[in-house]
Amino acid sequence: MPADALLDELEPTAAQLLERHLAQAREWFPHELVPYSRGRDFEPGYEWSPEETWLPEEVRSSLFVNVLTEDTLPYYFRTIEAMFGRDSAWGEWSRRWTAEEGRHSIVIRDYLTVTRAIDPVALERARMAQVGCGKVPQPPTPQEGLVYVSLQELATRIAHHNTGKLVDDPVGLALMKRVATDENRHHLFYRDLVGAALAVDPSGMVLAIERQVREFAMPGTGIVDFDRHARAIARAGIYDFQVHHDQILVPVVLHHWGVEDLTGLSDAAERARDALLTHIERLGKAGRRLARRRAEGADRAPQPA
Ligand SMILES: [Fe+2]
Ligand SMILES: [Fe+2]
Repeated sequence: MPADALLDELEPTAAQLLERHLAQAREWFPHELVPYSRGRDFEPGYEWSPEETWLPEEVRSSLFVNVLTEDTLPYYFRTIEAMFGRDSAWGEWSRRWTAEEGRHSIVIRDYLTVTRAIDPVALERARMAQVGCGKVPQPPTPQEGLVYVSLQELATRIAHHNTGKLVDDPVGLALMKRVATDENRHHLFYRDLVGAALAVDPSGMVLAIERQVREFAMPGTGIVDFDRHARAIARAGIYDFQVHHDQILVPVVLHHWGVEDLTGLSDAAERARDALLTHIERLGKAGRRLARRRAEGADRAPQPA
């Protein structure tokens, strides 16, 4: 089914889901969550050092990637507006979503700056580099775009929440949970649109799901030293293949979208579904294997005296 026809067909659903989103969203303010009393001025020539923070490197990596991902919002907005259009419920959604996402970088950055959790100079340089290069995932069709953002918003929710738990500070946890709640609502909007799209064009959507699951990458791939940070994030169990498999692919793709039970698929879509199911199974096995290896490695690591 052509993308324009599908988006037209789904527009009433997008309008309903936007209404649901607005009815459930609670207004909140970054300034009420940031512990400003812990802050002090930065002296001229100030140089950050890791001794200033209680946070281990893995958690700092995660916060660094999380806030830079939020900072890249202008490019996500551009992609989403280009995919779904600026009129009707689609346009209204993307503008509302943009406004909500803007809060996330504000609140996380203020927290990091006030608590001196990470190097403010390195962070600002990384932000300039990241926003300057404007590298974001670009799904080739609106169908694939809907699938990508469904998975990515949930991945972001999980990463924020798990990071919050490891921050080991009730204020930081509350703030990250607040952001994660927003990401969850974003996920639900897109997840249910994909559900509606599957009812309209199951074959087209299965092809889109297969490709996006196969190619999925977290939206931070342009970030300075991303691979090193991603490894640290996986090491801490914040986000890894196992989380991706157990908390995203299984509950959303298999259970919620019910990909295994779809009927009336074209031959190409049947083949894509087979490949998708095999891929998910392999990813689950690889995730468990890597998590086991990490746990064994941690067991072997020298213990503090
Ligand atoms: Fe966000
Ligand atoms: Fe989001």
